[in-house]
Amino acid sequence: MHDYNDEFEKKLSYKEELRPEQMLKVIFDFVARISNEKEVDRILMLMADLGRELVVADRCTLWLLDEGSGELWTKVAHGIPPIRIPSDAGVVGHAIKGGEEIIINDAYSDDRFNPEVDKKTGYHTRNIIALPIYNNEGELMGAYQAINKMTREAAFNQQDLEHLKLAATYSGNALESAMLHQEIEDTQKEIIFTMAEVGESRSKETGNHVKRVAEYSRILALGLGMDEAEAELLRMASPMHDIGKIGIPDAVLKKPGKLTDEEFEIMKSHAAVGYQMLKNSRRRILKTAAIVAHEHHEKWNGRGYPRGLKGEEIHTFGRITAIADVFDALGSDRVYKKAWPLEKILNLFKEERGEHFDPKVCDAFFERLDAILEIRDRFSDACEETA
Ligand code: C2E
Ligand code: SIN
Ligand code: SIN
Ligand code: SIN
Ligand code: FE
Ligand code: FE
Repeated sequence: MHDYNDEFEKKLSYKEELRPEQMLKVIFDFVARISNEKEVDRILMLMADLGRELVVADRCTLWLLDEGSGELWTKVAHGIPPIRIPSDAGVVGHAIKGGEEIIINDAYSDDRFNPEVDKKTGYHTRNIIALPIYNNEGELMGAYQAINKMTREAAFNQQDLEHLKLAATYSGNALESAMLHQEIEDTQKEIIFTMAEVGESRSKETGNHVKRVAEYSRILALGLGMDEAEAELLRMASPMHDIGKIGIPDAVLKKPGKLTDEEFEIMKSHAAVGYQMLKNSRRRILKTAAIVAHEHHEKWNGRGYPRGLKGEEIHTFGRITAIADVFDALGSDRVYKKAWPLEKILNLFKEERGEHFDPKVCDAFFERLDAILEIRDRFSDACEETA
């Protein structure tokens, strides 16, 4: 009779569990390398190696969830394209779907394991350990998976689970920021594509207006207690709030005087048009931009457009951009009006607190007025003209 375990012992000999000081060293070494790494692919491979060493496994993989396609993907080596599997496949799929940590020490007697994988590769899977991993916001990012424990016990245990969790905790931030960076690049490409599709932007006030609205929005987001990452997301998305104006005819958009009711109805469509343009994107920044385009003219008291949402029915991003946009519009010359003096704007804001504007965002605005005025000077339209 062919004894698999005998052969295993002869060929590979057992490895030992790491002693605590070895474990510390491994974690230190890897975390240092991982935090210096900017490429998602390389971080994935480093995290896989870290996991494998920590739990003394033969193989280890870090799978990432691609929400767009519903697949898990990973990178196992340089020069080889990423591997993709359906996010409900195999043991990892179970860990993802059920949000559970799984230890299987006899793979062939567990029906969550799919033996077809071994049949194709000639590998013999004995043990599998898999657990979902989450980012700082508690959102599912993917899963760690390790295969075949290489110690004499030849079985994964609860401690291994804890060690993989530790590996995920220590490297998660580096992974997230690399992913964000990646997303920025993907987004830039997508924006260029979108802009090319709709033609050149025609709204004259787009130059520094969108930059200021972006910076004001970021300041307000931080003032409301959002973290850097979320404030940054809004900063990147808010410049697209008026992208729907691309669909407004010149006769309305550039009319020097006051709009008729009918013209204003046409003008108001820019919110829904912008939303329609952006809403199908899978990119987080463009999804955020879709919300902002849709909701930046909603009012706290429910009298805004296009949907007449009220209070917290309006997304926080919409409530923030609303105040940033109006502050900038009032302080700027438009074809239909002169810029208002600051004092008049601030008086209006006090009146509109709890009417047009969310009182909390309005308070954050007054608390951070210095920073806001600094932005206004730095990106003034006069600067743009002379630049
Ligand atoms: P916008 O000029 O950038 O103005 C953005 C928002 O700032 C306006 O949203 C409004 O809430 C506020 N705002 C701007 N100017 C004034 C003002 O003189 N007084 C007050 N109380 N609020 C002001 P709104 O009203 O939904 O308008 C959306 C966009 O429609 C405007 O963007 C502008 O492009 C256009 N628009 C609005 N009214 C007129 C108009 O009378 N003539 C022309 N040509 N365009 C207009
Ligand atoms: C599975 O999770 O079912 C596949 C395990 C493997 O990659 O061998
Ligand atoms: C603009 O942002 O260019 C005009 C203001 C608006 O419609 O939101
Ligand atoms: C939308 O439907 O406008 C996007 C989500 C939201 O409303 O907050
Ligand atoms: Fe607008
Ligand atoms: Fe605007």
